Amino acid sequence: MRINKYLAECGLASRRGAEALIAEGAVKMNGKKVTELATDVDPERDHVTVNGRRVRPVARYTYVMLHKPKGCVTTASDEKGRRTVFDFIDLKARLFPVGRLDYDTEGLLLLTNDGELANKLTHPNHGIGKTYRLRINGTISAEEIKQLEQGVTLDDGSVTLPAKVRVLTKQDDDPDVPPPSETQIEIVIYEGKNHQVRRMMQAVGKEVLFLKRTAIGDIRLGGLPRGTYRFLNEKELRYLKSLD
Ligand code: URA
Repeated sequence: MRINKYLAECGLASRRGAEALIAEGAVKMNGKKVTELATDVDPERDHVTVNGRRVRPVARYTYVMLHKPKGCVTTASDEKGRRTVFDFIDLKARLFPVGRLDYDTEGLLLLTNDGELANKLTHPNHGIGKTYRLRINGTISAEEIKQLEQGVTLDDGSVTLPAKVRVLTKQDDDPDVPPPSETQIEIVIYEGKNHQVRRMMQAVGKEVLFLKRTAIGDIRLGGLPRGTYRFLNEKELRYLKSLD
């Protein structure tokens, strides 16, 4: 097994995170520093250490979903001393978040020590749908929805992949009824650029007033109270593992 896959199975990091550990020179195999990403590990015989500590594959992984509240960061520690998602999880297992939600975004965050699965879900080519509910200022036109669905150009010049958009606020056809000052939308995106939903809305001139992730693929946040977590059930795990 390749060294990065082995380290991911040890629950240390995603495969890419494992590559960073190797590049830092933190990884040794049988006492010798690993420099080649192509190094093969025999899990039965080889002795692998990270920063001097022996690592072995985690026998049974932990998978949880957290209803992240707004006002916390999706990292283990924050240089500004802000609350982190780990302040809401009292488990011994060393978990890491699968992807990120912004400080001001709430909703479904998966955490696991299964580096292989985390890697699969966050890989840009994977294309699993992530569903968001949002409130924007003013209304949204059919033309703007079409633009969002076909792909918009973001502030860095990149173009987004096709998305699905649904307007949840009832729009009144009667010209005598004033338009609502805010509109609720559901959007499904199939990639994960930084601040993607907010930047997509910015591209069509909308301000995001509220943003919440409600689903990742078929895994739904449901009624999980804000700031709490639960373990994924068998059905959810089977679904995640069935994804290529
Ligand atoms: N898009 C955003 O803009 N923010 C998030 O947290 C997630 C998706």
